[in-house]
Amino acid sequence: MCGIFGYVGEEREIGSEVLEALRTLEYRGYDSWGVAVGVDGRIGVEKRTGKIAGAHVDFPPSPIAFGHTRWATHGGVTHANAHPHLDCDGRLAVIHNGIVENFRPLRDSLLARGHRFVSETDSEVIAHLLEDALPQADGDLAAALSAVVGRLEGLNAVIAMDVRSGTLAAAKNVSPLVVGEGNRGASIASDGLALQGHADRVLYLEDHHLVRLSPDGITLYDRRSMSELSADFAPLVLQSGETGLGAFPHFMAKEMAEQPDVLERLVRDATGQIEDLAAAIRDSYGAFLVGCGTASYAALTGAYLFSRIAARHVNFTVGSEFKYHEHFLTDSSLVIALSQSGETVDIIEAMLAARRRGARLGALVNVPRSTLDRMVDLRVHLGAGPEQCVLSTKAYTAKVAVLLMTAHALAGSPEKGKEEVLAAAAGLQEMLSDAWVAQVREVARRIHREEHLFVIGRGLAFPTALEAALKIKEVSYIHAEGFAGGELKHGVIALVAPGTPCVVYAPSDETRADILSGAMELKSRGGYMIGVGPEPDPVFDVHLPTPDVGDAAPLVNALPAQMLGYHAALLRGNDPDKPRNLAKSVTVK
Ligand code: G6P
Repeated sequence: MCGIFGYVGEEREIGSEVLEALRTLEYRGYDSWGVAVGVDGRIGVEKRTGKIAGAHVDFPPSPIAFGHTRWATHGGVTHANAHPHLDCDGRLAVIHNGIVENFRPLRDSLLARGHRFVSETDSEVIAHLLEDALPQADGDLAAALSAVVGRLEGLNAVIAMDVRSGTLAAAKNVSPLVVGEGNRGASIASDGLALQGHADRVLYLEDHHLVRLSPDGITLYDRRSMSELSADFAPLVLQSGETGLGAFPHFMAKEMAEQPDVLERLVRDATGQIEDLAAAIRDSYGAFLVGCGTASYAALTGAYLFSRIAARHVNFTVGSEFKYHEHFLTDSSLVIALSQSGETVDIIEAMLAARRRGARLGALVNVPRSTLDRMVDLRVHLGAGPEQCVLSTKAYTAKVAVLLMTAHALAGSPEKGKEEVLAAAAGLQEMLSDAWVAQVREVARRIHREEHLFVIGRGLAFPTALEAALKIKEVSYIHAEGFAGGELKHGVIALVAPGTPCVVYAPSDETRADILSGAMELKSRGGYMIGVGPEPDPVFDVHLPTPDVGDAAPLVNALPAQMLGYHAALLRGNDPDKPRNLAKSVTVK
């Protein structure tokens, strides 16, 4: 997590531009932020806790600056823990994304040598290590950083500033960094998005790279030998799609409403990539789907779809657990990662583990040229456009649609897959009518003060129930749990009290009769039953209708929970786009 951005070039009021770039990177963390500008051989630092929002600072003109937006890992959300962190003399500053896993012994030895620490962060050790390394490197910041990075354990991206030489140096291990070349100077950031307006050409740093940004330009090194490398810059290409809010009050509302278009676009544009993915699954001996958070529930839905439609067993594992299964992998395995951002560290680590075992790597990814996109052998681009709400909505639906179409391609019925996705797109469009949304808002009003909420589904609707509960809890902060319909009564039913809201997924498939009898059991304990499905039933206290789209039901079933969570969040006064403690791109373990 954490977003970092740096600039060296023409002297101008760059501090405000750094702040603007940090706004673009806030999806990576938003508990505090800080900017450092170098002026007349001194580093001026401005830090604040909380989101950047409308913050305005009058920065002096400067040729060198950098900034950081934080998602706390080590140390609370305080002014002192916000980055940048300085060395004892205030000559060097550091911004950091990742975790220095061995920071305790490093900090102890630095303290013993007389260094003064002002924060509780792991990151501050880097500034003090650099302070010791710089004289040994004859004042060369890049050489000093090379020595320091060699001592850090963990997955990290670091940018260091030496205000005396007016230089930045940066290196990374797994966490992303992109260097930009522009007319007015050199820039570097966690994401190409933040380089917009600063760079025309970019270079994605590799783990063995180290880069120096100085008034003389950009120099790329092999970090291990410090030999110079030639830098192959390529044009900056950004994800296409509207980034503004338009008429919508929040990105969550906008992105929910975009789902029908996203599905139609996939049917139009992704057929070739989907055929290739289906062929790779056919040719593999053991295929795995991996994802984190919402993407994991899309992956689990995929496992059901492949079984149901193509009679094919495709394994499912959440990203962070994948490495404990890697023993099954061979060079005939296929590992398919699902990720909106393409930067989730647990996914990247899973793919690195799979590559070490010789497996073939595939991805369903929304952000082109992300780390995941660049490392895999085959990919399906979700083409959902920028997803800016921290909660994933349209990227989830896109992933499920791709898996549905891939399952059909594998079963030899590709046209049926497309028809089902188009039917779901039309169904979603109908659901987004004012009348349907008003119904959901009414349910949100009824439940928004509740403490607990349970969601049940069977078969294809089981992963949907898990995703529905995640969506509701992460935005409304109501404790919500999803269960397989038959599981609730093995313990959790003890928590169902009169009035406890229970969402029941009752599609028109073979699960309907059983899920309705589970719903009856909950109602008998006083549960307030919110039925989601094509048909009403007397057991429901309220019915949120969905179109009957057969095996494409997971595509229409996510929206009721997204909308319910959104309206409950608004009623509770929460920010639906940036819920507390979350980040969109989870780049630490
Ligand atoms: C974070 C986000 C979730 C997302 C998950 C996986 O937790 O808040 O919305 O589902 O990461 O992200 P990815 O980019 O890999 O799909």
